[in-house]
Amino acid sequence: MQRSNNTIFITGGTSGIGRALAEAWHDRGNRVLVTGRRQALLDQMADQRPGLRGLALDVDDPAATPQLAAWLHANAPALNVVLANAGISRAEDMAADGWTAEDATAIVQTNILGVLRVAQAALPLLRRNGPATFLATSSALAFVPRADFPAYCASKAFLHSWLQSLRHQLRAFPVEVLELSPPYVQTELTGARQASDPRALPLADYVQQVLHKLEVGDTPHGEVLLDRDLPRRWAERDGTYASVYAAMNPA
Ligand SMILES: NC(=O)c1ccc[n+]([C@@H]2O[C@H](COP(=O)([O-])OP(=O)(O)OC[C@H]3O[C@@H](n4cnc5c(N)ncnc54)[C@H](OP(=O)(O)O)[C@@H]3O)[C@@H](O)[C@H]2O)c1
Repeated sequence: MQRSNNTIFITGGTSGIGRALAEAWHDRGNRVLVTGRRQALLDQMADQRPGLRGLALDVDDPAATPQLAAWLHANAPALNVVLANAGISRAEDMAADGWTAEDATAIVQTNILGVLRVAQAALPLLRRNGPATFLATSSALAFVPRADFPAYCASKAFLHSWLQSLRHQLRAFPVEVLELSPPYVQTELTGARQASDPRALPLADYVQQVLHKLEVGDTPHGEVLLDRDLPRRWAERDGTYASVYAAMNPA
């Protein structure tokens, strides 16, 4: 992916990883369009960075997909990079009385269907405008799950599989399909405490490493993975899955 002069559309761009990437891409000389549900944050970002455009969008709303497609055609005809990044995470205890599938349903809506809807709206433009890049944010937990986040990890495993199929189906087009698989990063994904959790990677460090990998094309197998996550990524192949799983899910 080139460093500048891209037209970039990002979902989940109002906070955390999406916002940090949106701001860094804007500062590098790209045209950036950001979405999220929190209008006040979109306004704040546009005020702070003239030229950055915001659009209020709830990826859970299927009716928004054709509207998004029309908006992209009208406002970003040169679109060549999409980051489907909006996501939510919730712990679930399926052994508890009263557990319901409500949280899992919400996760499937946002983390899975939300990405598919963005693909539906944006792929026609990317295919037309190539060379282009379609990225979606999965997680290092796509490869080995944390059992206290069952639907969340499974939603990211879905994306890991789905992106491989998308990459294959687009192989005749100049559209690169990349999977962004962050480790545990200091954002408010699971609440305010995560943003200052010393066990999590500082957001600026993560974004700097991702930008470097994208700019030098260090994306083997279409995956944007930090070196520290390679043992988890390849645990099954390396015969270490059981020990990695046990370390992540103590009895
Ligand atoms: N931080 C980590 O440790 C980590 C690790 C692995 C993967 N990830 C993934 O990274 C992505 C970004 O998460 P983050 O850590 O940066 O957390 P975050 O700060 O909570 O960001 C989540 C973003 O998604 C947006 N969003 C959530 N539901 C939405 C909906 N229904 N419609 C539209 N936008 C929605 C939020 O915006 P609004 O609230 O304004 O809608 C926000 O901009 C997620 O896919 C997450 O699963 C994060």
